[in-house]
Amino acid sequence: MFKLDISRKAYGTHLIFNQTSFELSDHEMVAVKGKSGCGKSTLLAMVGLLEDFEGKYFFDDTEVTKKTREAIRKKNFAYVFQKPFLIPYLTVKENIMMPLKNLKEPNVVEKYQEMIDLLDLNDIENRYPEHLSGGEAQRVSIARAVLSNRKILLCDEPTGSLDPQNARIVMNCLSEILKKFQVSIVIVTHSNEFDSYFEKIYQIENEQVLLYENH
Ligand SMILES: Nc1ncnc2c1ncn2[C@@H]1O[C@H](COP(=O)(O)OP(=O)(O)O)[C@@H](O)[C@H]1O
Ligand SMILES: [Mg+2]
Repeated sequence: MFKLDISRKAYGTHLIFNQTSFELSDHEMVAVKGKSGCGKSTLLAMVGLLEDFEGKYFFDDTEVTKKTREAIRKKNFAYVFQKPFLIPYLTVKENIMMPLKNLKEPNVVEKYQEMIDLLDLNDIENRYPEHLSGGEAQRVSIARAVLSNRKILLCDEPTGSLDPQNARIVMNCLSEILKKFQVSIVIVTHSNEFDSYFEKIYQIENEQVLLYENH
């Protein structure tokens, strides 16, 4: 799916990555771990083509260039953050539908229904964000990301502000999404509780992205 050959990534004199690589195959869910400040969010931003680095980026075996970068970014990557970033004056349903430019596109309604069934959002689809629990709001942001039809979900500590029970519900949802849809998922996490959910676990250490566990 993609491979980053990273020669160097730094903010000013602060070196984040040095001579390392990171790759993802089609249809896998992997974790990225590491101490606070080691570069996990930076790596997600590099993967999502939001942050530049010295090195090469191959997407579907073709090198990403200045010319192709924006199109690849827009077509392929959706984000889920620790904070759900829902639009307060739109309902759950409107938030989920928001990224879809053309609601007349075939299968949108079916896909929407499939998503809200899967994420158990049927009873709250007409609610506004201020009346959602943290877990519900995060599931809405995941539904919105998947419905945007991007191939890769980049999730930065999606369970970081949830209690253990809601964290498990959200992780189960992501796992179901991987089974049902043609997506790949990268999850930055501090937790070791869900290790069995991941095909691979990477650890960032000493400016390197290391494959730590391979199931
Ligand atoms: N835009 C930026 N400019 C300067 N320094 C940054 C920037 N973004 C992140 N950093 C620094 O780079 C390091 C890695 O940040 P980050 O990728 O957010 O770490 P993590 O997500 O692993 O906690 C941190 O020390 C952070 O302060
Ligand atoms: Mg971070």
